[in-house]
Amino acid sequence: MNKRDYSPSEEFAKAVDDADPLREFRQRFHFPNSPGGGDAIYFTGNSLGLQPKTARSYIEQELDDWAFLAVEGHFRAKHPWLPYHEFLTEQMARVVGAKPIETVVMNSLTVNLHLMMVSFYRPQGNRTKIVIERGAFPSDQYAVQSQLNAHAAWSWGFNSSPSSQGDYAGDESPKGGTPNLLELAPREGETTLRTEDIIETIERHGDEIALVMLGGVNYYTGQAFDMRAIAEAGHSVGAVVGFDLAHAAGNLELKLHDWDVDFAVWCSYKYLNAGPGGIAGAFIHERHAEAFDLPRFAGWWGHDKNTRFLMGPEFYPMPGAEGWQISNPPIFQMAALRASLEIFDEAEMPNLRAKSEKLTGYLEFLLSEVGDDRITVITPGDPAQRGCQLSIRVKDSNRKLFETLTERGVFVDWREPDVIRAAPVPLYNSFEDVFRFSEILQECLT
Ligand SMILES: Cc1ncc(COP(=O)(O)O)c(C=O)c1O
Repeated sequence: MNKRDYSPSEEFAKAVDDADPLREFRQRFHFPNSPGGGDAIYFTGNSLGLQPKTARSYIEQELDDWAFLAVEGHFRAKHPWLPYHEFLTEQMARVVGAKPIETVVMNSLTVNLHLMMVSFYRPQGNRTKIVIERGAFPSDQYAVQSQLNAHAAWSWGFNSSPSSQGDYAGDESPKGGTPNLLELAPREGETTLRTEDIIETIERHGDEIALVMLGGVNYYTGQAFDMRAIAEAGHSVGAVVGFDLAHAAGNLELKLHDWDVDFAVWCSYKYLNAGPGGIAGAFIHERHAEAFDLPRFAGWWGHDKNTRFLMGPEFYPMPGAEGWQISNPPIFQMAALRASLEIFDEAEMPNLRAKSEKLTGYLEFLLSEVGDDRITVITPGDPAQRGCQLSIRVKDSNRKLFETLTERGVFVDWREPDVIRAAPVPLYNSFEDVFRFSEILQECLT
């Protein structure tokens, strides 16, 4: 759909909704109410996805099995708890474009990021640096910095103390940060990164880079990165490439296996609608499936399932992503995620992405129609460089606008210092939602 195909009218929005092959999926989710009655305009699926209506019965099933079967539920529950995570593997793999052996549901996002870095950040000789975005989500920054510190502490020969200056590789960064951190920053006067600059930095620092660890979509600007090109560039200089897909899983059409990404981690409480604190996911490329010599933090759930209960003292990891599991996983969280992944399997990512491009394009179009220079979209205009979120910069950090929108039943969020994030989610948002949002925004501005 091009800009000229859109029209700023309710009739147009309703007509597009009527023709939308995915329109019925909206009924499968609970919406919070708007203060004026009816469904709120929910554009914060990038923060916490809505509850699938089936989630309650899926969790209740596990509560019943616990009540009536107790420990026997591990084997006799309707969905036995012992292999429960396996029920999620194939559907999750489809969402991220991976093979089942490359995919596992476990832990939470930052925990998985640490586990991946324990295995895949392997500083050696001159090759010690980690490339990240300067504007990465804080948890990623803390995780990366603490891994650098831990590796420095663990390794005698690794000549880099966490508090020392110098050897600072971040040519796009201010002087005096963490050594071995190579931070990518937008050009002066720009808000997002250019792919050519990312590639150029990777190539220029080539044999100093041990790991490239970027987000799939930046949480603040909504910029989606060209993961295929970044993986290719990273590999061409001999680095390992991993992604944090918190804002990409269930949002973009991912092809992790084909893009040759080494590892990826993501949460499931955003676009994957698994509920607050939902269980996270991890991808480890098939070529590492039997890399049993990689360092890893082990636990019994990663041990070969055929001999796990022999309780032997030695750890034999399962091949593939499952071998990175540590603990027996939380059944209630997995039940909620199952409810959502079944919906994804019906809707299918290519269809969702096709609708998403139109829906977010419509939001962008209506924002330009509002024509108020107090608001600017900082998310790239190229649909290939964004998911469903648009980040709207508000002049003079006008938080009042966000607060008024909230009072009017619009769920968007505010990110300091001056951005409102709005994410129309193709699974449950409509063109009419987008139209109503633009009307309310216009009223709030005037
Ligand atoms: C990009 C990104 N990374 C990491 C996190 C932290 O996730 P968790 O608290 O589940 O570890 C978030 C949370 O929103 C995020 O958006």
